Amino acid sequence: MQSIAEKDLGTPARQSTKMVTLTIDDREVVVPEGTSVMRAAALAGVSVPKLCATDQLEAFGSCRLCLVQIDGMKGMPASCTTPVAEGMKVTTENKQLADVRRGVMELYISDHPLDCLTCPANGHCELQDMAGVVGLREVRYGYDGANHLTAEKDTSNPYFTFDPAKCIVCSRCVRACDEQQGTFALTIQGRGFDSKVSASQDNPFMDSECVSCGACVQACPTATLTENSLIEKGQAEHSVITTCAYCGVGCSFRAEMKGEEIVRMVPNKDGHANHGHSCVKGRFAIGYASHPDRIVKPMIRAKITDPWREVTWDEAISYAAGELKRIQAKYGRDSIGGITSSRCTNEETYLVQKLVRAGFGNNNVDTCARVCHSPTGYGLKNTIGESAGTQAFDSVMKSDVIMVIGANPTDGHPVFASQMKRRLRQGAHLIIADPRRIDLVRTPHIEADYHLALRPGTNVALINSLAHVVVTEGLVKEDYVRERCEWDSFEKWRSLVGDPKYSPEAMESVTGVPAEAVRGAARLYATAGNGAIYYGLGVTEHSQGSTMVMGIANLAMATGNLGREGVGVNPLRGQNNVQGSCDMGSFPHEFTGYRHVADDAVRHSFETHWGVTLRAEPGLRIPNMFEAALDGEFKGLYIEGEDIGQSDPNTQHVTAALSSMECIIVQDLFLNETAKFAHVFLPGSSFLEKDGTFINAERRCSRVRRVMKPKSGYADWEITQLLSNAMGFPMSYGHPSEIMDEIARLTPTFSGISFDLIDRLGSVQWPCNAQHPEGTPTMHVGTFVRGKGKFLLTEYVPTNEKVNAKYPLILTTGRILSQYNVGAQTRRTPNVQWHDEDRLEIHPTDAEDRGISEGDWCGIASRAGETVMRARVTDRVQPGVVYTTFHFPDSGANVITTENSDWATNCPEYKVTAVEVTRVNQPSEWQQRFRRFRSTQEALLKQADVFIK
Ligand code: SF4
Ligand code: SF4
Ligand code: SF4
Ligand code: FES
Repeated sequence: MQSIAEKDLGTPARQSTKMVTLTIDDREVVVPEGTSVMRAAALAGVSVPKLCATDQLEAFGSCRLCLVQIDGMKGMPASCTTPVAEGMKVTTENKQLADVRRGVMELYISDHPLDCLTCPANGHCELQDMAGVVGLREVRYGYDGANHLTAEKDTSNPYFTFDPAKCIVCSRCVRACDEQQGTFALTIQGRGFDSKVSASQDNPFMDSECVSCGACVQACPTATLTENSLIEKGQAEHSVITTCAYCGVGCSFRAEMKGEEIVRMVPNKDGHANHGHSCVKGRFAIGYASHPDRIVKPMIRAKITDPWREVTWDEAISYAAGELKRIQAKYGRDSIGGITSSRCTNEETYLVQKLVRAGFGNNNVDTCARVCHSPTGYGLKNTIGESAGTQAFDSVMKSDVIMVIGANPTDGHPVFASQMKRRLRQGAHLIIADPRRIDLVRTPHIEADYHLALRPGTNVALINSLAHVVVTEGLVKEDYVRERCEWDSFEKWRSLVGDPKYSPEAMESVTGVPAEAVRGAARLYATAGNGAIYYGLGVTEHSQGSTMVMGIANLAMATGNLGREGVGVNPLRGQNNVQGSCDMGSFPHEFTGYRHVADDAVRHSFETHWGVTLRAEPGLRIPNMFEAALDGEFKGLYIEGEDIGQSDPNTQHVTAALSSMECIIVQDLFLNETAKFAHVFLPGSSFLEKDGTFINAERRCSRVRRVMKPKSGYADWEITQLLSNAMGFPMSYGHPSEIMDEIARLTPTFSGISFDLIDRLGSVQWPCNAQHPEGTPTMHVGTFVRGKGKFLLTEYVPTNEKVNAKYPLILTTGRILSQYNVGAQTRRTPNVQWHDEDRLEIHPTDAEDRGISEGDWCGIASRAGETVMRARVTDRVQPGVVYTTFHFPDSGANVITTENSDWATNCPEYKVTAVEVTRVNQPSEWQQRFRRFRSTQEALLKQADVFIK
């Protein structure tokens, strides 16, 4: 059903340099070759009636409502499927056309319920609109013949209802599922009168392959597929464009509102990252913002064994500031710090790092990107000169071969995955390097050319063997390397990876990947045309995470696959603003724009602007903060929007560190795992309640717009400002746009960015400055940001986390589509109907060896700890490897992960933990303790009246 405020031109735009001139109802119009007559008419301001056509989908030509007459052509062709031609003369309105259209509508309406006044689509139904447009006044066939009016509703999906009685079998839903989403869950079953929409083999939606992206709901021109929220609340009265706060795709949405209440989220057709598409999280899973667990009043307590006490904002802020000052007076300036979050806006993260550097007087600030993409920053900065992905998402439509390494886009980055799948269905080749058989390996109409199912922990061995093939089989683009890279660094790298020890045959016993597959994949990537690499946390969260990122950049440089559309090296950033939180100077060693705190000129610019003296030495990283806390030197922590108690490795170590501190201030929506160790709780605001910007995985800065007032009274940036003022470092921003203006003044790559510019362009990709006033979709064009590209040496060093007789399996971790990160948001929505617990995937052979069957409780023991989960026996994982997600705190996935980390950045080695799995019948000791602690903390909270009403 159409969103309010969006115009539909009927068929998709066509790109062509050849323009065609035609006349429609005496209006001349010029359009690109390949455009449909319907779209040309719409562009000329002439609306042709339509039902089965929409500009989001290829034309299908089934409803026959859009008939027109064209001089020199027989009959009445459908305008949606007829392409324009030079000199064409089109008539869209006359009596003959009107009669035919009325006849078509009459047939539709004779088999449609006449309950318009009580229908949720009333006023926004295309069928209703078209009946009006064609002037339908009577239905001569009566309503008592054969019809579908009693067909049963399918209410299995928690977010939308399928009411087949209202279906006109236009197949828009089927095409949306195929073309836009790429899931192919729907079909039109039967023929003629019996034809009907069916999910998989005529299953309820929830039992089908449907992933609840909602594209079919959006495409449906009637009330057949309707959001339940719309059924419950009625039509919206206004809408606001904002950006999804879940993953790093950064989809743009139109929040359709009734006063302060959201009716539905509709993906924005003009969104540059999503082009009108979305996934189940962004479109539907927003109920967490008003979940009864949400805390909206500030609270304090002296000890974590005390009950929480509701206090005023003034008291909470002055208590927090007083404690931080007391701790600094007693233990020294470096005894406190702050942690920002990739879920917060740029303006918020910028303020936190400013508060720490200028207000706390140290550089003890870090961000959750520490535990995900810090190796990307290090690896890309040192090879090609900039810590970010090189392309826009749309670039993938020009790729000839796509290599996906350690990423699972259909679960982690679903909207980009749909775009990638579209390109793959057009014929691009696919290479997947992943220990697990992710969905992309084989999915409807797509099959990977190569699935390199490597052993976890052997990424660098694999990338070196791919590089070995390139350098030893003459596949290097030598002209490119000579012109654009440091030749001597290339020679050193070539001699390293060219060593026979890195041949695919020699590495086969290390990686477990057949040498022929490695050779084939390397040849394909180097020779198929435009080669693009997309990678995820399966690359970075390793002891050699930074080395692997360098290895990827080296391979792309050697094959000339950087610096134009269709190629590139692209980290798929997990969280909505992980790129932005890194860009904003959240790491202890860097100011905004990745400039080192030891750089005198940069530091002086901040000192001048902020009016303080700043430290030239990097501060503590998150793991160092824990160490210092356990050593008794680090006593106070301000954490905005991050749940280190669940997300960081070796949970028992983390909670021991948290327990040893004297003042932990948590600013969040819920009493998360970290907040259970806190002394001050400052209720934060959801993305719906504030203004600001997010930066997605393609460096795209988009606006987050406030659609309702903050439930706690303050947006997060205001709370940081209050704390800073109470600490004695004054801040007086009136609006987040002023914070962005300051960021732009202090950061060369952001100097052109402002809220006004984003409002004008829709979004903008940094660098955005005098050289690139409207941003930079593709980086490193002509020359690398660092000048010449630098090949860095990537010797393979096996991880210390070794399997042995006691821990013979390797555990690796990942995400699932319906849940997000620590699950604090998605666990509080109906998304739990798809995934209500983390499970351990185990290969049938390993399961059988241990007497484990599907659904059994498994004890998982590592060198760090033990937990218990239920088993899912599947050959998606290879023998010797087990896998789990980490969305539920009591699964304790991070109780078993160790503190091993990337040599350069301390990014934890989440992806490789040696474990043993046994069948058990009760929770682990840690889980029993965790549950007791959780009940105690919940009881201490219940006494305070602080929840959302
Ligand atoms: S919700 Fe998405 S996946 Fe499910 S049937 Fe509709 S288009 Fe297909
Ligand atoms: S469900 Fe909607 S989109 Fe699908 S065929 Fe029926 S009317 Fe068309
Ligand atoms: S793909 Fe990511 S950004 Fe887009 S709707 Fe889903 S979670 Fe939100
Ligand atoms: S809109 Fe053209 S045939 Fe339906």
